[in-house]
Amino acid sequence: MFDDQIENWPIGTPQGRWAGFGPYYAMFPVKFARQIISEYSSVGDTVIDPFCGRGTTNYVSQILGRNSFGCELNPVGWLYAKAKTKPARQLGRVLRRIEETAEAKSSEDICPANEFQEWAWCPEVLGFINSARRNLNWRSSIVDRTVASLLLVYLHAKIGGGLSNQMRQSKSMSPDYAVRWWKERDMRPPPLDPCLFLKSRAEWRYAKGFNTVVGRSRLYFGDARVGLKRYDGDLASLVLTSPPYLGVTNYQYDNWIRLWALGGPELPDWSQKQRYANKEKYEALIGEVFSALAGKSRSDAVIAVRTDARQFTLETTAYAMDREWPQHRLFGRRSKADRPTQTTLFGDKSEKPGEIDLIALPKTKTPPAGFIDVASGVVVS
Ligand SMILES: C[S@@+](CC[C@H](N)C(=O)[O-])C[C@H]1O[C@@H](n2cnc3c(N)ncnc32)[C@H](O)[C@@H]1O
Repeated sequence: MFDDQIENWPIGTPQGRWAGFGPYYAMFPVKFARQIISEYSSVGDTVIDPFCGRGTTNYVSQILGRNSFGCELNPVGWLYAKAKTKPARQLGRVLRRIEETAEAKSSEDICPANEFQEWAWCPEVLGFINSARRNLNWRSSIVDRTVASLLLVYLHAKIGGGLSNQMRQSKSMSPDYAVRWWKERDMRPPPLDPCLFLKSRAEWRYAKGFNTVVGRSRLYFGDARVGLKRYDGDLASLVLTSPPYLGVTNYQYDNWIRLWALGGPELPDWSQKQRYANKEKYEALIGEVFSALAGKSRSDAVIAVRTDARQFTLETTAYAMDREWPQHRLFGRRSKADRPTQTTLFGDKSEKPGEIDLIALPKTKTPPAGFIDVASGVVVS
C-alpha cells in the first residue's frame, strides 16, 4: 500500500524545516503520515486526528492539499501544532516580539524560585522565560504563539543545543536527579543571551520561506470528545491517529518543564503521573472518541491507527474500530516487525513494547500488502 519511496521532506526545504517542529513524546514519523495520507485520501478531502499531538497529521495534510481537523488536550502539543500549521508570516514581527519579551523582564524574573531553576538556566534566560510566561498571549496571538513555541523547542536540550544546562528529556523528568547530577559535576548553566539565541533560531526556521499552503487545518484545544461534537466541517475520508496508551505517559509529566514555561506549576504534578492507569476510564475514552469519529466521517472512510502492541490498548482500539465500522475489514501489522503473524498481533499476551498499525478499510479499497487480515489471519500479498 505504502509508497516506500516517500521519505521525510529534506531539512533544506520549507516543508522539511517546519515538519519536525516541536519535540514531543510518541510523535508520528512525518514519513508515516505522508504515506497514509497520500495513499488513502485525495486533494480536497478532510482528514481527522482526534489525538493530534504536535500536529503531524494536520501539517502533512495541509501540504498535500487536504483539509484537516485535530484535537489536542495538552497545551504543548496544541501549541506546536498551531505554530507549525500557521506560523506568523512575518519574521520581523517574531524578532521584535522576542526583543520585547526580553526587555519586559523584571528584576524578580531573574530570581530562581527553586534549586532546579537555579541550576537549569542562567539568570538572563530565566528572566526571559518568566517574562514570556507573563507576557506571551499564546492562546490567541499568532505572533506570540510562534515565539512561545520557539521558546519551548529550545527550552531544554543537551548543552549548546538549547537554552539550558545539560538537560536531555530523560534528565528533565526528575528535577531532583538533575540537580544532583549538575552539582556532582559542578556544572553551572551556560551564560547565554536568550534574545540573540532565539532570534537566530527563528531566522533559521524562516530561511527557506513557507510551504505553499493548499489545505486548511483546524485545531481544537481540549478534549476530543468535546471537539468532535463541535466539529461542523466536511465529513472525513480519512481518520489518522495515535491514541494515548494505557499505563503509559499522560503527556503532562514528561512535558512538565514546557508546561511551566507556558504558565503551569513550578514542579511536576506527581499525582497525575499515571493518568491512563484506569482501564475502565481508558476504555470509555477510546470508545467515546471512536463513536464520535464515526459520526464525523464518511461511510467509506479509511481509519488508520498506530497504537501500542500491548494487549489491553490494542484490543480496546481494535474493538472500537470494529464496532464503529462493522462493514469495514480490519488489517494490522507490527510497525517494526519483519514478518508479522496473527499471534504477534492478537494472541501475544506478553507485555512487549512496540507499536501496531491498524487499518480499517471499506470493501472497495485494496488491502495493504504485508498487513494481516485480522479476521482470517492471512497475510496480504
Ligand atoms: C500518541 S500521542 C499523539 C502524537 C501525534 N500523533 C504526533 O505526531 O504528535 C496522543 C495524544 O493524545 C492526547 N490526548 C490524550 N487524551 C486526549 C483527549 N481526551 N482529547 C484530546 N487529546 C488527547 C495526548 O495529550 C497526546 O498528545
